[in-house]
Amino acid sequence: MREVIRLNNEWLYNPKFTKEMIINSNTKDFELVNLPHANREIPYNYFDENDYQFISCYKKTFDILELNKGQTMAIRFEGVMTKAEVFVNGQYIGEHLGGYTPFEFNITSFVTADTQNVLTVVVDSRELENIPPFGGQIDYLTYGGIYREVELRIYDPIYIQNAKIETLDVLELKSSALVKLYIMNNSDMNTGVITVTLKDKTKEVTVNLEQGLNIKEVLIEGLEGIRLWDTENPNLYSVGMSVKTDNSSDYIEDRIGFRTCDFRTDGFYLNGEKLQIIGVNRHQSFPYVGYAAPKRSQIKDADIIKNELHMNLVRTSHYPQSIHFLNRCDELGLLVFEEIPGWQHIGDNKWQEVAINNVKEMIERDWNHPSVIIWGVRINESPDNDSFYSKTNKMAKDLDTTRQTGGVRCIPDSNLIEDVYTMNDFDLNNHKEHLRGQQTVTGLDKKVPYLVTEYNGHMFPTKRSDSEDRQIEHVNRHLGVQNAAFADPDISGAIGWCMYDYNTHKDFGSGDRICYHGIMDMFRIPKIAADVYKSQVDPAVEAVLKPVTYWARGERSVGGILPLTILTNCDRVELTYGNQKTFNLTRNGKNYNSLPYPPIVIDETIVPTSEIGEWGMKWEDGLLRGFVGGKMVKEVKLCKDPLPTNIEVILDDKELNSDEKDSTRVVVKVTDQYGQILPYFNEPVTIKLTGPARLLGPSVTTLKGGVLGFWVETKNLIGIISINISCLDLPTQNVNIEVM
Ligand code: GAL
Repeated sequence: MREVIRLNNEWLYNPKFTKEMIINSNTKDFELVNLPHANREIPYNYFDENDYQFISCYKKTFDILELNKGQTMAIRFEGVMTKAEVFVNGQYIGEHLGGYTPFEFNITSFVTADTQNVLTVVVDSRELENIPPFGGQIDYLTYGGIYREVELRIYDPIYIQNAKIETLDVLELKSSALVKLYIMNNSDMNTGVITVTLKDKTKEVTVNLEQGLNIKEVLIEGLEGIRLWDTENPNLYSVGMSVKTDNSSDYIEDRIGFRTCDFRTDGFYLNGEKLQIIGVNRHQSFPYVGYAAPKRSQIKDADIIKNELHMNLVRTSHYPQSIHFLNRCDELGLLVFEEIPGWQHIGDNKWQEVAINNVKEMIERDWNHPSVIIWGVRINESPDNDSFYSKTNKMAKDLDTTRQTGGVRCIPDSNLIEDVYTMNDFDLNNHKEHLRGQQTVTGLDKKVPYLVTEYNGHMFPTKRSDSEDRQIEHVNRHLGVQNAAFADPDISGAIGWCMYDYNTHKDFGSGDRICYHGIMDMFRIPKIAADVYKSQVDPAVEAVLKPVTYWARGERSVGGILPLTILTNCDRVELTYGNQKTFNLTRNGKNYNSLPYPPIVIDETIVPTSEIGEWGMKWEDGLLRGFVGGKMVKEVKLCKDPLPTNIEVILDDKELNSDEKDSTRVVVKVTDQYGQILPYFNEPVTIKLTGPARLLGPSVTTLKGGVLGFWVETKNLIGIISINISCLDLPTQNVNIEVM
């Protein structure tokens, strides 16, 4: 039976690699670190992206017991940025190019049971031109280091290298599953028994296993009472797979979902039913630590997209992301558009080979995730290159016939080699036309499956603390594009750019190495535009009532608060100004009417300016009440004279783990008398942390638009993390997190 040893704790790390380190046992200058690890932590903004682009060295010692005859020892890396050269006991094992896909090396003949073994990984985190996404400019940072997990695996002579599980007859009364096992035989020709268990069925087959790789199929039929996987009820089934021979046994488990997914010319269908895609693009970066965020933080991002933003799809722009993130998407019913690394630039043949191999590595890693509904097999926004893209597309088709392919482009009339025309539609035409019709874009004389994969972004970068005027326009653009997508039956849906602001190269962004393109900031704190999406959910799930205003008379150009857009899924809203008149507000059928829950937009014809405080009149509190079916479900109080009143601290988690690196987010808000964020409060905050954890980022910092986020990271010790937060003379706050 295989043994898996997690190898994430106590690595030795040296940011200055020299060749002698490969054989030299002197690790005096090395620092003790845990994985996931960032080769260099960076400031929040204004830094030099060359700072993390260097060659570093990681070492890990491990002991093994004598391997049994024919056993294989392998080392598996989930992701190392950008190029990894692996050595065991000073001997070269192999290298891997590209930072977003896993790789495994057989190290059997290099390890010994007599002494300690030393694994050395030379990590080149420079932007190497021969590896995608590099060679041109890219609008994101790739960071560096062994930023995902590592495992040692000991296999018997015959073991399961990979398994692909395809669901069949999904919408019938009786479904089936075809399990393809990739079995490696490192011994002689042998006879083995394969067993597959799924739900209440177990099937055993006896097979001949030749030396080397064997692909064996087991069909499980007659599965009754299958509950489908969808965005509301993401039912998962676990599949147990084993192989047994006289000298070996192996067992693995994976989870699958029964669902069909199909982009058609008239939209996207999940389990045969039309589903409008409302999605967002996600980078996998975090402030300070870049890509090196552990499992919990990866999971949290998926939770935010599904449960906070109420979206149904994420595009992993522009590369395969953490398996923890994808596993969570399976559990949440969050659809995934996954794509290969790249950004606009296509390199030479060698580069293209790496990209084609990226398709293979991505699909072979992720083909069992029910959440993944499409493979992106083009370099994001690159020009046509039919010979290259025929190969990436063919690779995807050879490996997986169950999913359609797409390839994200921004150039109209580009050649469609894939199944779905996936287009970044930034053509706002001065904001008059939010999305182009598909045939205007494709130039084809027929309709094809069509999906908008990006919009907004650099068309209108907006900071969370930008002025109300800008927030209004930001909101309107998001409303406008989604409304246009809902209105056009030829568009399967639209995926916004992007989930949160991200650090980027000097060639992009606002000059401070941040692209402020998110509907949330880098701490995942929502901008008002996030409520465009939130408010599209059924109010039974969450009642949303968000006025697009800071509630101040002199903030907007010209002044006042009209017209006022209220992002809400309530049927009706009451607005009370001071203790004067209450206005009854409903949708007038004019604004963004194709959306499930159009906003309520009020202007002077509904609420006369004279009744809501003209320039020069006394300014009063506002009270909004949202009703669904006659029942009040949400109330928002807006303060006429907001003052910093409370520090509110929100913990994503109250318990963390000590066995491996774990991290969680802490959000600090300074709120007014009614609990609202103060959008222009940027005062200093001091964070004092004691206990078994490390604060990521500075301990003396400032609020950014009234809010601040930070992460704390565990370090293999149990106990209580105590965090004290102070800001000016506001009552300080203390919170605890327990490390188990
Ligand atoms: C697109 C690109 C994204 C991002 C975005 C900004 O062209 O695909 O990666 O740069 O623009 O709006």
